[in-house]
Amino acid sequence: MIDIHCHPLPEVDDGAKSFEIAVEMLKMAAEDGITHVVATPHCNFRYAFDLGQNKKATAELQKAIGDTPQILLGCDMHLSYDNIRRLTQDRAPFTINGTHYVLVEFAEHFIPEQMDNVFYEIQVAGLTPILTHPERNAVCRRKIQHLYNWVTRGCLVQVTAQSYTGGFGSEALRAVEQLLDLNLIQIVASDAHDTRHRPPLLSPAYEKMASERGKQLAELLFTKNPEAVIQGKPLPPGPLPISPDAKGKKRKWWSVFKR
Ligand SMILES: [Fe+2]
Repeated sequence: MIDIHCHPLPEVDDGAKSFEIAVEMLKMAAEDGITHVVATPHCNFRYAFDLGQNKKATAELQKAIGDTPQILLGCDMHLSYDNIRRLTQDRAPFTINGTHYVLVEFAEHFIPEQMDNVFYEIQVAGLTPILTHPERNAVCRRKIQHLYNWVTRGCLVQVTAQSYTGGFGSEALRAVEQLLDLNLIQIVASDAHDTRHRPPLLSPAYEKMASERGKQLAELLFTKNPEAVIQGKPLPPGPLPISPDAKGKKRKWWSVFKR
């Protein structure tokens, strides 16, 4: 499995509180069967994003843990006006492993209609936005049609593994199930911040998905799609998104397994 959203770099944001905890997190990820971890420090009004510091921390951690998991760099980009400018003017510091994929997180009180333009601007700059954990956002949960519109225009959706196993409450869990029913999720990631409350584990969610929705989908969302992202390649064929308006006429996901 490949984890494209994680906060193991020590003392750069609200993730790992020390180098030792960071090492523990990465060892835990390796034991869970995770081969690559993308370290994605926050870039928002609370935490400055310092690429030099992040690269240094990554090299030190890799040396401490050995080859597995391989640590790559990205950014958990808060969609503020300033950040959008920074991203579209110089993408290099912020994208995942230097590819055209970038993790984006909504501002606190975002207005979905305005995001149409934001995503358009990001895509015109040659980037592919990966929207992080919409299932944990009350506005997103109420506006699934917007998610459908963004996904059909090339935006990707990443949900948190712990949301799918109930760790973020019943509403987030229900939203993940609904998004899965509509084929609106491309990637599951840990968004881990520590070893206890938000640990870097994907296998519990993988096992649940494999048993309830089939191994083919689990492989796609936990391994194949994230692998394409870190390599900067197009995603492999997957189930086509279904509009929430088509409710009641829901098709089985494997009958539309093509892109
Ligand atoms: Fe995050």
